[in-house]
Amino acid sequence: MEYNPSQNRYEQMVYKRCGNSGIKLPIISLGLWHNFGDVDVFENFRKIIWSAFDAGITHFDLANNYGPPYGSAEKNFGQILKKDFKGYRDELLISTKAGWDMWPGPYGEFGSRKYLLASLDQSLKRMQLDYVDIFYSHRPDFETPLEETMGALATAVQQGKALYVGISSYPAEMSDRAVKILKQMGVPCLIHQPNYSLLDRWIENGLLDVLDDNGVGCIVFSPLAQGLLTNRYLNGIPEDSRAHKSHGFLKESAITEALVEKLKKLNEIAQGRNQSLAQMSLAWLLKDPRITSVLVGASRVEQLNDNLQILNNLSFSNDELEAIEKILA
Ligand SMILES: NC(=O)c1ccc[n+]([C@@H]2O[C@H](COP(=O)([O-])OP(=O)(O)OC[C@H]3O[C@@H](n4cnc5c(N)ncnc54)[C@H](OP(=O)(O)O)[C@@H]3O)[C@@H](O)[C@H]2O)c1
Repeated sequence: MEYNPSQNRYEQMVYKRCGNSGIKLPIISLGLWHNFGDVDVFENFRKIIWSAFDAGITHFDLANNYGPPYGSAEKNFGQILKKDFKGYRDELLISTKAGWDMWPGPYGEFGSRKYLLASLDQSLKRMQLDYVDIFYSHRPDFETPLEETMGALATAVQQGKALYVGISSYPAEMSDRAVKILKQMGVPCLIHQPNYSLLDRWIENGLLDVLDDNGVGCIVFSPLAQGLLTNRYLNGIPEDSRAHKSHGFLKESAITEALVEKLKKLNEIAQGRNQSLAQMSLAWLLKDPRITSVLVGASRVEQLNDNLQILNNLSFSNDELEAIEKILA
């Protein structure tokens, strides 16, 4: 099948400036952590990527170890780029990361210069790209000097293998130091990628202020708490859900009765807004002006389309906000 991108794709999306950079991100971006590996169905995820681009999603987020097996999401994404997106590279913002375990031995994880730069070369090969738009340090490494990790990011830019750099899951104070080190090296930190959802609000305690003060954008991962903040688990654990799959990062044990009760109450508020629980959960995150984009995952086109409808209703009444806080308290 041949892919012809929708002509009016840019009219459907809202784009927001990433910190004080020149880059604008779609307020919904697509992540390829789950559902794009060799264990998944190629034609299914190929269509998810088509639908995303058709809806104005320009930003696709990867990492060296996305799959399973590790590396396969990058390889599959590269094949889709080659097959379907010839001539569109300059309309796409593609990120990858290194930090988690990727290959055996002491040079296959964490934050050394040796690991980061070797991993970026491997990622580019798998995706058949000359450069990525954003290269991230995927997690903080408390044993490697921060200067070494940030130096590796700066080198990636100097080598022309990344246009921008970012950090992921760094705590507030360490983020502040990382951003300042990068600045001294003449390479601004474009973006931070932390997890943030109605069920995990750690970034409200300092990190968001640090990013705001430094003009760094914020794209939040697992905004639906890996699917918990959707209709997926309101009535049991579906066979095809992430929690049920043996390779899924979400475990069935996370779906407790107390949690489902909370989710059902949140779902009632969402229904009152004529939204799905997923839509309300995403819209709630975006009400903070410091959030540049929500980085969602999807196992099928319908989920992505559902999430895209937040563009119709992003505002909350005070009553709704209070009711949500009460449930979460
Ligand atoms: N930097 C990091 O360390 C890090 C860590 C994790 C993730 N990430 C990034 O963040 C991206 C998103 O993470 P995530 O996949 O955990 O995000 P998520 O959006 O919280 O969860 C996605 C899952 O929620 C379900 N879902 C999504 N929309 C739905 C809808 N409208 N209705 C019902 N169910 C829906 C699907 O579950 P089912 O699969 O069960 O259908 C989907 O796979 C990743 O792909 C990756 O790019 C980064």
